[in-house]
Amino acid sequence: MKTNPLILGIESSCDETAAAVIRGRVLLSDEIASSSSVQAKFGGVVPEIASREHLSVVDSVVASALKSAGVKKEELDAVAVTYGAGLLGALLVGLSFAKGFSYGLGIPLIGVNHIRGHLAAAYLEDESLKPPFITLLASGGHTAIIYTKSETEFEVLGGTLDDAAGEAFDKVARILSLPYPGGPHIEALARDGKNTVPLPKMLKGNGGYDFSYSGLKTAVLNYCHTKEQRGENYNKADVAASFQCAALDILVQKTIEGARERGVKTVTAGGGVVANGYLREQLKAACEKAGLKLILPEKRHCTDNAAMIAAEGLLQWNAGNFSPLSLNAEASIPLR
Ligand code: KG4
Ligand code: ZN
Repeated sequence: MKTNPLILGIESSCDETAAAVIRGRVLLSDEIASSSSVQAKFGGVVPEIASREHLSVVDSVVASALKSAGVKKEELDAVAVTYGAGLLGALLVGLSFAKGFSYGLGIPLIGVNHIRGHLAAAYLEDESLKPPFITLLASGGHTAIIYTKSETEFEVLGGTLDDAAGEAFDKVARILSLPYPGGPHIEALARDGKNTVPLPKMLKGNGGYDFSYSGLKTAVLNYCHTKEQRGENYNKADVAASFQCAALDILVQKTIEGARERGVKTVTAGGGVVANGYLREQLKAACEKAGLKLILPEKRHCTDNAAMIAAEGLLQWNAGNFSPLSLNAEASIPLR
C-alpha cells in the first residue's frame, strides 16, 4: 500500500460544500463554498436549500480543489467522502459525486464518518502527531472528551447528556436575537462583556465526564425573560460573556482531567466550537500549566471542511478500509 497517497476529500453533510486534496499528511488544497448566508435568512439550515446549493457547486468546488493542488484527477489514489452523519439530501450530493469519481477513475471510495473527520483534523496540523492522545470534540451535533488509542480506535470518556455545545451557542444566540450560526456572533459580543451573570454549573453526576447544556440554556432564557418582564435593562454582552465562560470552561477542565487520568501527554481538539478564540486561549493556558502538548487545528479546520475528511480518509487507507459503491448516506451514525 502506498504510504503517501493522493486523496481527494469531499464534504457536504450540512451547509458547506468542500473539497480538499492531500498527499500523505500534506494538505495541497482546501476549497469551500458555504450556503450559510442564504440559510441565515431562515435562522437555521433548510435541508432542501442545502441540497440544491451543494448540487449547483459540488462540481466546481472539486475542480478548483484539483486545480489549486496542481493535480490531475487521473493522479488521485482514492476519494474520501462524508457518508454521515448529516442531512440526508445534502450527504447524498457529495456521496453520489464521489462514487462517480471513484467508479470513473477506478480508484477506491472511502466513506468517512463526519465526526471522525473532526477528530482527524489535528493530524494535518502536526505531522508528528501520534496516538495516544485526548481530544476535545465540540461541534454543532457532538460534544465529548475522547481518548484516541490508535489511528482507528478510540473511547468516548464522556460528554453532553443533551444539547451539544454548538447547539447551545446557536440557541442562546437566538435568545439574544443574534443571527445563525450563533457561535461566532456570541464570541464577538462577549468581547464587550463581563462574566457577571450568575449561571448554573454544568456538571452532572459523580465527578465523571458527563455534563448538560440544556439547563444552562434555560437559565439564560429565564434570566433574559425575567429582566424583560420586569422592564429592566440587561447587558447582552455580559450575558454572552457569562454564557461563553460557563459553556466552555467545563470543556477545558474535563479535557485536562481526561489527559491526566489516561496518562497521555498530548491533547488535540476539533469541531466548530473549537474555532472559538476564548476556548482556544483557555485550552492553551490549561495545557501549558499541566505540561501537556496541545495540537489545535487552524480555525478553518475546526468548522466543517474537506481537509479533515481527506485526513480521516488517509487513516482508513492506512488501515485498508475501503467502501463499496453500495455505501449509503446515513443521517445519524454513532462514533465508531
Ligand atoms: O463542526 P461544525 O462546523 O458543524 C457540525 O459538525 O456540527 O460546528 C458548527 C457549530 C455551530 O453550532 C456553530 O455555532 C459553532 O459550531 N461555532 C462556534 C464558533 N464557530 C462555530 N461556537 C462558538 N464559537 C465560535 N467561534
Ligand atoms: Zn462538523
